[in-house]
Amino acid sequence: MKSQEKTFYIETFGCQMNAHDSEKVIGTLEHEGYRQVETEEEAGLILYNTCSIRDKAEQKVFHRLNDYKKLHKAGKRFGVLGCVAQQEGEKIFERAPYVSLVSGSASYRKLPEMLARLEAGETRITGLDDRQTEETFETEFTARQNPYRGYITIIEGCDKFCAYCVVPYTRGKERSRTSASVLEEARRIADLGYTEIQLLGQNVNSYKDPEGKLSFAELLAAVGQVSGIRRVRFTTSHPRDFTKDIVEAIDAYPTLCDHVHLPVQSGSTRVLKAMAREYTRDWYLERIAWIKSAKRKISLSTDIIVGFPGETADEFIETMDLLAEVQYDCVFGFKYSPRPNTPALVMIDSIPEAEKSHRLQVLLERQREIQRSNYANHLGEILEVMVEGQNPARGQIAGRSSQNKAVNFTTTSPIAPAPGSYMPVRIIATHPNSLVGEAV
Ligand code: 5AD
Ligand code: SF4
Repeated sequence: MKSQEKTFYIETFGCQMNAHDSEKVIGTLEHEGYRQVETEEEAGLILYNTCSIRDKAEQKVFHRLNDYKKLHKAGKRFGVLGCVAQQEGEKIFERAPYVSLVSGSASYRKLPEMLARLEAGETRITGLDDRQTEETFETEFTARQNPYRGYITIIEGCDKFCAYCVVPYTRGKERSRTSASVLEEARRIADLGYTEIQLLGQNVNSYKDPEGKLSFAELLAAVGQVSGIRRVRFTTSHPRDFTKDIVEAIDAYPTLCDHVHLPVQSGSTRVLKAMAREYTRDWYLERIAWIKSAKRKISLSTDIIVGFPGETADEFIETMDLLAEVQYDCVFGFKYSPRPNTPALVMIDSIPEAEKSHRLQVLLERQREIQRSNYANHLGEILEVMVEGQNPARGQIAGRSSQNKAVNFTTTSPIAPAPGSYMPVRIIATHPNSLVGEAV
């Protein structure tokens, strides 16, 4: 590639970890003299940052590659990054021979070197560091794409090995950054004008400061006290490592948002054991009780998998009972999807697809009713909302409450409020997934 052709396009699939990895990848490419463009057609280098958490997510990248492979003839190069890259490795070159670069997230620190090889004309470049690597990907070149939320990875990888999950294989072993470097990045983000920080990790609360200075709860408190920061979120917590001092930190520091995402996966202790989740239903509910006894009402959300191999109808009902008991404000429900390399792959996936779909539908319908009543409790309240964007078609501004609830509201001000600004909003109507209000 000639220097004037150094343009790239990147599309990101999957979770917030991936969204933030892309911010770091974009910053690294820009530092290497590349310019980001908005379409595949304009780009010299086309990158897909991929997700392999479920089969459907994995298939997306192959569809995309297929749709755009004709551009290879025009001299464009393709790179597959992220979890599918790590999982499939060199097999991607067999399936899509026009791909030149395959790299998992544990190898991104080598991107400058891989880009140089790409520019030199190499066609089969891989970055496939596995669970051996101790390195984290920290870069001062992060190109933040989100206008109102600054992401900070505090822990990469996963050592939990839940029976259904690819992440320990795609993202490597658990490795934390020092609290000093996290706080330095938090201050840098605040200096850029961000007021909201989201701390990221596959198991964010399994954080262990390599220098032993701060616990996870102490790190939360410290980030919450960075000057200029008004909201701190963290995701995703694992129940096994959820300690009471996290709730105490939320109690003590109002900048720590009143929302905890705590994936339960199943309400049945037998299924949890088969999933290797390392906790029981009672253990989980004890943590929920701690969260519910906080001074502020803390909003709860969760992830649930239905149709895990061997899940009986009664065990599914245990999950439904747990929904009724916890009263979550948001549930991400998934049908079990068998994944390569995982221990659950050898378990007999005997629940028919139609039954999995039925369980998911029953779960989501029940949850919708729970949310209808939870959200209705906000009627008449005045909430502080951070503006995220606009919906000009409906003449509304879109934002989010500290509890992470979507709030769509109107204002009489002729000037639209900027993303990242805060407004008090009175709630005048409620839906199962959003609140409607007027700026006061
Ligand atoms: N099948 C279905 N859902 C899965 N998840 C993780 N692995 C699988 C799988 N194999 C879900 C879990 C996790 C969320 C990010 O995705 O609920 O918390
Ligand atoms: Fe997908 Fe999980 Fe990888 Fe995120 S970490 S991209 S959700 S497989």
